Amino acid sequence: MPVPRTAAAAATAVALTAASLVAAGPAALAAPAAPDAPVALTDELLVVGHRGASAYRPEHTLAAYELAARMGADMIEPDLVMTADGVLVDRHEPEISGTTDVADHPELADRRTTKTIDGVTHTGWFTEDLTLAELKTLRAVERVPELRQRNTPYDGAYEVPTFEEVLQLRERLSAELGREVGVIPEIKHGTYFDSLGLSMEEAVVAALREHGLDGADAPAAVQSFETANLRELDGEVDVPLVQLTSPTGSPADLVAAGDPRTWADVVSPAGLADVAEYADVLGPDKSQVIPLAADGTLGEPTSLVTDAHAAGLLVVPYTFRPENDYLPAELDLGTDPAAHGLADAELLAFWRAGVDGVFTDAPDTGVESRATFLAERS
Ligand code: G3P
Ligand code: CA
Repeated sequence: MPVPRTAAAAATAVALTAASLVAAGPAALAAPAAPDAPVALTDELLVVGHRGASAYRPEHTLAAYELAARMGADMIEPDLVMTADGVLVDRHEPEISGTTDVADHPELADRRTTKTIDGVTHTGWFTEDLTLAELKTLRAVERVPELRQRNTPYDGAYEVPTFEEVLQLRERLSAELGREVGVIPEIKHGTYFDSLGLSMEEAVVAALREHGLDGADAPAAVQSFETANLRELDGEVDVPLVQLTSPTGSPADLVAAGDPRTWADVVSPAGLADVAEYADVLGPDKSQVIPLAADGTLGEPTSLVTDAHAAGLLVVPYTFRPENDYLPAELDLGTDPAAHGLADAELLAFWRAGVDGVFTDAPDTGVESRATFLAERS
């Protein structure tokens, strides 16, 4: 069970958080001073390779993670789901027809089905219906080939990795690159997998422990869009915990429990103070930090960074992507939605708004924009 924190304990915990993130590499984070004081940053800000370097390789493949690390990402980000035989594997969602070639496997045709997960209906093939051995017969494909045609030559080249393989890759790359490459797994749909008897949290903790990554100074952190699992993990592991948030709706675990609180409640000042009792970092959607204006251009920052820092939380928003389709209108280059626009300019606006890190599909843009920001600040 989680141990309730006093304000002083929370301050200590955040400092430990910063220490562990600093251990992730030369460009990681420094500590906020106290939950009720402005965050005092050093020159170090965090770049997370979101699903790997997924602008350049099919997401959640070892190749995508490796490229992210080689581009300078401080941490690599595997989203985690589980197989029928209880193995943690790296996919953004249980349903895998959008990111693998499962539909081309006639021997698995009878597994195609329809399920409702967190209130949303999906039809396809689900990791929880395949053993690891079956999943390993599949190959990853690009999720958005219309936007990331440059990734499609890699379709069919890579397996779906296990979390264990990512942790081994992290160790190999850390040794080769001469710095600790951090890992920041996200537990996907924890309540849903609990309902199947495939609880993921214990397996995540066990894997981190096995690799010596459960200490406060370890180059690791754990994320979730749910709240109850992070509260429980707070009593289990010392690594930083990241409360992800959405601009709309409610946390799935609260919905399942009949708790009426919404994401808007979670990011209110009172909600953030509650989050700081068990988590160390807030991971909001980038629109919660700087929303788009009505014309699609980047608008004005909200108070979220200030409010979260006041609560003692670091702020690492998601997801920055380089294609015009994902960028604010004024940062597009040309009219092709797949063309890369001024991604560095968008990131620079967020660094200037005071974020402590970013999740980006293009870690090179995260590293370069951070350098620009640090140069202009010095
Ligand atoms: O974990 C940060 C970000 O990845 C959350 O969004 O949907 O890409 O996992 P998603
Ligand atoms: Ca994620």
